[in-house]
Amino acid sequence: MIEILILRRENRNAKPYWQRFTYEPQTSDDTLASVLTALNAREDLQDADGNPAAPIRWECSCLQKKCGACAMVIDGRPRLACGARLSEFKKTIRVEPLRKFPVVADLMVDRSVMFQNLKELQLWFESEANGKDKAMPIAYQSSRCLQCGCCLEVCPNFRPDGKFTGMASAVPMTRVLAQIPDTQKKEMTKAYRLHVYEGCGKSLSCRNICPAGLDIDEILLNSNAIAVWKRFL
Ligand code: SF4
Ligand code: SF4
Ligand code: FES
Repeated sequence: MIEILILRRENRNAKPYWQRFTYEPQTSDDTLASVLTALNAREDLQDADGNPAAPIRWECSCLQKKCGACAMVIDGRPRLACGARLSEFKKTIRVEPLRKFPVVADLMVDRSVMFQNLKELQLWFESEANGKDKAMPIAYQSSRCLQCGCCLEVCPNFRPDGKFTGMASAVPMTRVLAQIPDTQKKEMTKAYRLHVYEGCGKSLSCRNICPAGLDIDEILLNSNAIAVWKRFL
């Protein structure tokens, strides 16, 4: 039997409180996503003390570590609920919503600022991407970003209302920088300097956090080389 301690909030203005649930793992592959699904499937959901409990609000889509929707703080670390196997944890697991975004309810947060940043930085290709051999590995790495926001959670420099847009935009920006023709790089390098390079403290707190397994150091090194030192790939 395991205990799940969940930080709950009815809506963004409501007072948060901890609620404890118990769960009997069904298989050795059970994840936190399986637990949340199973708890919500109970006809009369009750907490560990037998009090009635409202269904737990959280988000998921793929349940395969591919969409980033289920990112939350699990035992103090931002990660994906569908990738968090129960066997990795002690008897009690503490679960909270990501803290850099406004809470919608329970474990659901509003990550629209992250998507708005992508839009404002125009992180898409206007013409066919450049398939230069040297650019491909870094472009491929960057394209694996899930936009989950876990890197923003641990970043001491990211604030949702700040100029620095964090790794969640630096990673797709690296892809665009690596693949647009050199003649189009001027505007993007300007944006990179302003929204990434000048705000990033290079603390690398975001290292080894990415659920997609992206090598943040390498990505940062490459985009700094392209955008700041003008060393094109
Ligand atoms: S290196 Fe530090 S400041 Fe830069 S994005 Fe990562 S955590 Fe944030
Ligand atoms: S870089 Fe990694 S941690 Fe950051 S948003 Fe993309 S997938 Fe999530
Ligand atoms: S539900 Fe898609 S990553 Fe977890």
